[in-house]
Amino acid sequence: MQHETFHYPALSDVQSAAEKLNAFVPLKEDLSPLYQPLQLGAKTADNRIAFQPMEGTDGTESGAPDKLTIRRYERFAKAGPGLIWFEAVATVPEGRASAHQLMLTEDNVDEYARLLDHMREISLKENGYAPVIVMQATNSGRYSKPTGVPDPIIAYNCPPLEDTPLPEWRIVTDDQLRRYEEAFGRAAKLCRKAGFDGMDVKCCHRYLACELLSAYTRPGEYGGSYENRTRFLKNAYRAAKSEVSGDFFLSSRMNVYDGFPYPYGFGVHEGSLEPDLQEPIRLIRELKDEFGIPLINVTMGNPYKNPHVNRPYDRGNYVPDEHPLEGVSRMMKGLSEIQHAIPDLPVLGSAFSYLRQHSPNLASAMVDGGHCAMAGFGRMAFAYPDFVQDCRRDGCISGRSVCVTCGGCAQLLRAGTPAGCIIRDREVYKL
Ligand SMILES: Cc1cc2nc3c(=O)[nH]c(=O)nc-3n(C[C@H](O)[C@H](O)[C@H](O)COP(=O)(O)O)c2cc1C
Repeated sequence: MQHETFHYPALSDVQSAAEKLNAFVPLKEDLSPLYQPLQLGAKTADNRIAFQPMEGTDGTESGAPDKLTIRRYERFAKAGPGLIWFEAVATVPEGRASAHQLMLTEDNVDEYARLLDHMREISLKENGYAPVIVMQATNSGRYSKPTGVPDPIIAYNCPPLEDTPLPEWRIVTDDQLRRYEEAFGRAAKLCRKAGFDGMDVKCCHRYLACELLSAYTRPGEYGGSYENRTRFLKNAYRAAKSEVSGDFFLSSRMNVYDGFPYPYGFGVHEGSLEPDLQEPIRLIRELKDEFGIPLINVTMGNPYKNPHVNRPYDRGNYVPDEHPLEGVSRMMKGLSEIQHAIPDLPVLGSAFSYLRQHSPNLASAMVDGGHCAMAGFGRMAFAYPDFVQDCRRDGCISGRSVCVTCGGCAQLLRAGTPAGCIIRDREVYKL
């Protein structure tokens, strides 16, 4: 079904479109709720805007930040979000999503440290505060492409993602999983050494830790029961926790809904494709109680099979059978359900960019209404990072500078080339 492209010049236009669809898209004119500080354990974020992890595929072959990586984080730091969730950084070479995905090692940790110092310096100079910076530690699992060609490490054969089952040897063994858990320990040690404020044990978008959450059909210690499906994530936390101390924190970006039918999706109702957040809520509570996570970064979907679930859009090759506002609504409802179930744990939300110039209004209403504590922006950060200070200063942002959800940045990422905004940053990024 082809939906009309974005045509909501006024906030009231979004409101009436959402009402027609019975979609949950709260909006608030006053943006001041976004500019309140937020306590995250021992750290304080200056404001409620976060930049979500956005992989740039522009690291050096050894995994260090290269020129374009540095340029991106300079732009992000200057913009002044309260928190920057630094993109996916590989924990093992074979779990890299591309030959240019970042990978933190003993040999390059100083380069990360320099970049972080530089980012804090820029933000302090421009904005008067430094952002909280969290590193996303990843094992790309099914989507590993360490030399540029797919070399999947899968948790189990998953029919919604495969036309034909992959050979048995692609299924990661329990022993390998134990080694991958330990790699998160080494990553945490390096991450702290580099000077990040915290580390994300990445558990989203069907990369390895996330795929295991739905491994109902996998035999052995890492499949079947809830305890087994969450074993890898918790052991990775244990490995990480044993390597760090002080005010360095752990957290996760977590898929609370995969959008695949049972028994292949986490957070999905057994008899339908509707979200069922009981297990995700249980898991987040357990991470809070056992590992003291000071926030949870909530997301949904799979960027390859159902990209509209994670990043609603109205242009691109693959047109989903739902209105983008329904995608926004599913995400906002999910955030709200989790925030209300665990009110003392700040929820960082995803998928705000679709609403373009109105996205700060959605963010403000979500924060003000207690539906989440922080609003995370992905594609908008590529297109128009300076929106953070523009909307603080002017109470609105320019429709001429916003992300147009064209999918160009994702296409660059898929091609394994440096990713950025092909519309607003076109001197650097071209398809
Ligand atoms: C080019 C590109 C790179 C991305 N890289 C990551 C990543 O490294 N880690 C992650 O968790 N999500 C990643 N995402 C997903 C975004 O963080 C975000 O969830 C998504 O774009 C939806 O948010 P938005 O509507 O604000 O763009 C990426 C998305 C795009 C388009």
